[in-house]
Amino acid sequence: MTEIALKPDFTIGVIGTGTMGRGIAQIAVAAGFNVRLYDSRPDATGEAAGFVGKMLARAAEKAQITAGAAKAATARLKPVASPAELAGCDMVVEAIVEALAPKQALFQELEAIIAPTSILATNTSSLSVTAIAAGCRHPARVAGWHFFNPVPLLKLVEVVDGLLTDPDVLDVLDTVSRRCGHTPVRAKDTPGFLVNHAGRAFGTEALRIVLEGIADPPTIDRILRMTAGFRMGPFELLDLTGLDVSFPVMQSIYGQYFQEARYRPTPLLQQRVDAGLLGRKVARGFYEYPDGKMVTPPETAAPSARPSAVWLSPTEPAGHTVAAKLLGALGATIESCARPSPSALCLVTPIGHDTTTAALAQDLDPTRTVALDTLFDTTKRRVLMTTPVTTPDYRDAAHGLLASDGVPVSVIHDSAGFVAPRVVAMIINPACAIAQQRVAPPADIDLAVPMGLNYPHGPLSWGDRLGARTVLTILERLHDFYGDPRYRPSPWLKRRALLGVSLLTEES
Ligand code: NAI
Repeated sequence: MTEIALKPDFTIGVIGTGTMGRGIAQIAVAAGFNVRLYDSRPDATGEAAGFVGKMLARAAEKAQITAGAAKAATARLKPVASPAELAGCDMVVEAIVEALAPKQALFQELEAIIAPTSILATNTSSLSVTAIAAGCRHPARVAGWHFFNPVPLLKLVEVVDGLLTDPDVLDVLDTVSRRCGHTPVRAKDTPGFLVNHAGRAFGTEALRIVLEGIADPPTIDRILRMTAGFRMGPFELLDLTGLDVSFPVMQSIYGQYFQEARYRPTPLLQQRVDAGLLGRKVARGFYEYPDGKMVTPPETAAPSARPSAVWLSPTEPAGHTVAAKLLGALGATIESCARPSPSALCLVTPIGHDTTTAALAQDLDPTRTVALDTLFDTTKRRVLMTTPVTTPDYRDAAHGLLASDGVPVSVIHDSAGFVAPRVVAMIINPACAIAQQRVAPPADIDLAVPMGLNYPHGPLSWGDRLGARTVLTILERLHDFYGDPRYRPSPWLKRRALLGVSLLTEES
């Protein structure tokens, strides 16, 4: 990355003193920049400057910075009463209301005030940077500088180039970002930029699984936390963000991509918004929050039943190995004959197939067949999946056996790709589409997604861990099963899987 030599008295104007403007002002003064702060609400500017001063003093109390540094940083923050006082700023960032017309009008007004060489940056999360720049005389000086909330803690920032942005402007923003202690990643001006685009599938695919009656929200959350390693399940996250915030974002990105099937939300959300089930803020969402604490419904107790014998499918060799080891440790009687005996439980370990398809493809009795997810971690939770005709006896025997060492088991209805393989494949696929569309370089995608979304791995290296071929198989089988273009594999994924190379491989 190019490091730009900035003037010693480099001055940043921050407009808008809400959550984001305050955060940006705080990290900028703490980094040694002079900051002028403006808000159109007369009281807001002084109030925000006071807030920033308090946050810096608190950082000093916690010994994160010295008291002298906090004092000096506070002194670098100057509240101003009008945009005219931003003349002389080397760059101005806006964090005002999220609407195109006011942002365009503000930048047009600023062009008459600041020097022709000064940069105009927007913290928009959903509008086009190119469209915001369109009203300017010098659109080359306009770029996106998209932070995440809370700014001082989430140390990632997207540096977004509009169609006409001068590359030097991006280099300056990279430098300023790094000086502020943030990691800049470059993203092209596209709906959702990088991180909000990459985060589409987590909620929407989980909702799709609920819509199909495969599993309920608490079960999906438990599976994704305990087998795939997410810090928070999708429904816990939707409740935290609030459906009034996340549903419009889902709709907006879906619309901006002209009804791209991969980002299609489900009708479930509109109904929940109408009912006021917005999440934590109203104490009712996918979970209830009496006294502010989430109430998790209890899990189904493990049955005491056990199968007389288990016949384990050899069709997926990797899954067979994992399941055989697990069953051995649980003391199960494993049949080694080619065909199951008449009363044996038939255990399959499909990749991307549902239990029904796996049972029929292997000529097994679907009333005795249960599937086990072996692709994700089985040490903290195990996921079993039935066919629509698996008898309760066989289901309970499988459940009882797999839970006999105290590890909880989630039993779900039939699903092509269980829960975790399906959701994770649907996270990896858009990340591949982002790389394919050159929105961001693969290394930046892999860096930004865990930082911005708190996922356990970068989506492309996660695909490599699971095996690009395996991810491709899951998506192809989902696509075959549903006939829905939502599941079509990205060309980026397909080619790298066929070539047997890493999903981080750039074109030479
Ligand atoms: P906010 O609503 O908390 O604050 C906006 C502030 O801008 C208010 O103080 C308002 O008085 C002021 N304002 C409105 N129009 C103005 C104008 N024409 N001139 C000067 N001041 C004006 O908004 P928040 O949440 O801080 O977001 C600001 C921007 O950052 C939006 O574009 C938003 O999409 C984006 N953003 C927000 C994130 C979040 O989590 N809140 C995350 C990333 C980006």
